Amino acid sequence: IPVEPFDLVIFGGTGDLARRKILPGLYRRMLAGQMPTEARIIGAARSKLSHKAFREMIAEALDTFIGAEKLDPEMAKTFLSRLHYMHVDAMGEDGWDDLGALLDKDANPVRAFYLSVGPSLFGPIAEKLYNTGIATSSSRIVVEKPLGHDLASAKALNAQLAESFDERQVYRIDHYLGKETVQNLMAVRFANALFEPLWNARHVDHVQITVSESIGTGGRGAYYDKSGAMRDMVQNHLMQLLCLTAMEPPGRFEADRVRDEKLKVIRALEPVQPDEAVRGQYRAGPEGPDYKTDAENPDSRTESYVALKVHIANWRWTGTPFYLRTGKRLRARMSEIAVIFKEPPHAIFPKLPAHQSNALVIRLQPDEGITMRMTIKEPGPGGMRLADVPLDMTFADALGPDAGDMPDAYERLIMDVIRGDQTLFMRGDEVEAAWEWTDAILDDWQERRDVPKPYDAGGSGPEDALALMHHDGRRWREIE
Ligand code: BG6
Repeated sequence: IPVEPFDLVIFGGTGDLARRKILPGLYRRMLAGQMPTEARIIGAARSKLSHKAFREMIAEALDTFIGAEKLDPEMAKTFLSRLHYMHVDAMGEDGWDDLGALLDKDANPVRAFYLSVGPSLFGPIAEKLYNTGIATSSSRIVVEKPLGHDLASAKALNAQLAESFDERQVYRIDHYLGKETVQNLMAVRFANALFEPLWNARHVDHVQITVSESIGTGGRGAYYDKSGAMRDMVQNHLMQLLCLTAMEPPGRFEADRVRDEKLKVIRALEPVQPDEAVRGQYRAGPEGPDYKTDAENPDSRTESYVALKVHIANWRWTGTPFYLRTGKRLRARMSEIAVIFKEPPHAIFPKLPAHQSNALVIRLQPDEGITMRMTIKEPGPGGMRLADVPLDMTFADALGPDAGDMPDAYERLIMDVIRGDQTLFMRGDEVEAAWEWTDAILDDWQERRDVPKPYDAGGSGPEDALALMHHDGRRWREIE
């Protein structure tokens, strides 16, 4: 879908996210025909660089993050010619006039500012953009986590942004919402007549949401140690997955309708009981050192793993727990939402010893796709022998090889900013409600000076997390 000509200013334009994700993503969108010839991308940062030096830097980033062999040299040249650089001091006066002049000259209809900088700069940059008149009432501003550290800081951040921008101008990224399968979850639920009648406590035994990573703190030990899995993953990514799985069908697929429904889910979450929250920290394994070494903090009590049993107090879900888990240095990189259905009310066939009930599994990574676990008769003359089988649909198989080349989450989200579609972005009240719920859990751990339970690197999490399920006569799906 073509978009209107735009001017996109990336603060932190020389930073890691810009070079790794944002600019390569924009290049791919240009290949897909989504970048009007008038579009301009302006990197803004503190260092003094010429346009040329910036273009060279980004040429290198494209080589690294897309791969020199995959680049189309002519297209890459055209892309680079649309890049500009502005030296701007976020906290001072330098560069703002020049930025304003550049934008006003041949201004494009859409103006967006991507704040790919630390959260302490969100407020000052927003204020500058407003005071200098560089941001107009139709401009858009994009921010990304950490959106606060707790409820109080999240509120302060929202208030700072609100001084200069209306909520309809603010795009809060959670990159999980840009993942293809996450959006497919909505399609599966709301474009099929098959599932929605069963999507409730009467038919669903429980839901498991897993975001398992095999990497450790990945060189971000210092940041991560102040954050931990709860703030880094649960408050945002897992919460979003939970909301999309549990929400009521919105009246229309429209930003505020969808976000209203998600907010209702967060507000219906019961406080988590202390014995239904498990935190863990990885020990050393064959693949690497323990968490404390990675985090360079020998006394760290930060969790690299969380498992929770979550109750949603509403008509649809009372009685159906949602189990959430996420962790670093686990056996495999695997993210999925598994909806486990109840057994049929009356069994007329002998049960398999290892029988498993119906499940709908939405896989985010790897091999994005959907699997339905069913019980069927084993073929052959041996009588009514049953077997549990997966009905598998990977997007690449179902929709052709191009589906394997789907746009990255950032690509999709940036184009939504340009289009002015906030559906896949978090609203301020959602973020605050999520913090309010998370804070209670974090406060409890803090008060009890809770020590995270050790787990083996390369394993599937602490014993207590397994026990959380066993206790209910259930078990986690394999991490593989
Ligand atoms: C980020 C977290 O938001 O998401 C990281 O800060 C985590 O710690 C990452 O590794 C996971 O994202 P993805 O897309 O690789 O699943």
